[in-house]
Amino acid sequence: MPPVVSGRADALGRIAAAYDDGPRTPYRTMILLGPRGSGKTVMLNAARSQAATRGWGVVALSASSSDIVGELVAAARDVPSEAGWGRRPAGFGSAEPRGAGTASVLHAASLTRMLVGLATAASEEGRGVLVAVDELQSMDPAAGRDIAVAVQEVVRNRQLPMVFLGAGLPELEDTLLDDDAITFFGRCLRVRLDAINSDEAAHLLTETAATAGGALRSESVAALVVAARGSPYLLQSVGFHSWEAAADPASGIVEHEAAAGVAAARDDMIAHIVLPVWRRLGTSDRELLALLAERGGAAAAGLLHQHLGRWRAAASLDRLARAGVLERHGREVRFIHDVFCDWLQQQPGSDGEAISGVRALSQKEVAVIALRADDRASYGEISRRTGIDRAYVGRIARETGFSQDRPRSHPHPVVQADP
Ligand SMILES: Nc1ncnc2c1ncn2[C@@H]1O[C@H](COP(=O)(O)OP(=O)(O)O)[C@@H](O)[C@H]1O
Ligand SMILES: [Mg+2]
Repeated sequence: MPPVVSGRADALGRIAAAYDDGPRTPYRTMILLGPRGSGKTVMLNAARSQAATRGWGVVALSASSSDIVGELVAAARDVPSEAGWGRRPAGFGSAEPRGAGTASVLHAASLTRMLVGLATAASEEGRGVLVAVDELQSMDPAAGRDIAVAVQEVVRNRQLPMVFLGAGLPELEDTLLDDDAITFFGRCLRVRLDAINSDEAAHLLTETAATAGGALRSESVAALVVAARGSPYLLQSVGFHSWEAAADPASGIVEHEAAAGVAAARDDMIAHIVLPVWRRLGTSDRELLALLAERGGAAAAGLLHQHLGRWRAAASLDRLARAGVLERHGREVRFIHDVFCDWLQQQPGSDGEAISGVRALSQKEVAVIALRADDRASYGEISRRTGIDRAYVGRIARETGFSQDRPRSHPHPVVQADP
């Protein structure tokens, strides 16, 4: 968990109420919704420690696992001994998942019996059980149905002490939460992890710096807050990179160091989010993004349908929303991260093959990737590996805060064989 959890008092309060209020509270079943980096996993971890503090058992899962039901059974089985409850709950014997090597085949009724048994045992101890499921957007529908049936029986029908807390991308509202066949998820209370406000963002930056023994000048705080636009992930990233770029963080990170931090955070996002996503996309998806970037980052869905054909555009929109690249606001479609849009706008010939083919990386991107990959390599070595001018590598290293702790040069340079 980050040293400071910022701007989430409301959500944390609801989670506390889920444990402390009676079985009828709507907080017993909740789903956290937010884009990547909004802090969903951080909140689930906070919920786990809140549960542990109260002596509750914890079953924590990720729906991106290929065998979530098997993991649920295994984790539930461990709860009584981990939590120090006396006896083996009823219903555990029936829940032996079959099918080693593949996703577990388990009758929904056995899963239900097991969770009922677990929550009953918890209740007898005066405790409860948290079931926390991350990455809900990746939930396999069949597994989702079984889990929904079981949790619904425990929490809603029998009102046993169990909290279900899911987390996933906002797209869930159009998929799992809108599924007529599984109404359980749609009826969970939705908690949106929105952008955190600028006061909270400023507080987070200064507190984080102070915790690490540094300081930020007020003009630097302002610049970083604007650059991060309320994203907890970006706030951490711009803060971290400003620190790296600062000559002496303890005496105060100055404005141009903060600016270098913002640039480095942007490169970081390109390397870690934009490029990996872009490489996996097909031609239609790339065309749609290029069109959207040409339009400044947002467009009416109807316009995309006109240009790309209705079904092709609709399928791409779905994929890109699930990948966390785009979001829909009413009829408008837009990029979730400006960085993605800016990057696309800078690509040569947005209508040409550079966009629909895999674009070559810019010199700067290559330099940043190489500097990051090996923090002991000298600039000369990186220059040899990448074919980029040594002086340019040095400049990028200083600009992006990768200049610290690098050997000046090697007396006997080792010639690297290019792959
Ligand atoms: N409320 C918060 N306060 C401070 N930092 C946060 C907060 N939420 C998230 N972060 C930071 O942002 C990063 C991304 O958060 P994470 O929970 O992984 O996002 P998500 O699961 O929504 O993609 C974390 O590693 C953490 O450093
Ligand atoms: Mg996460």
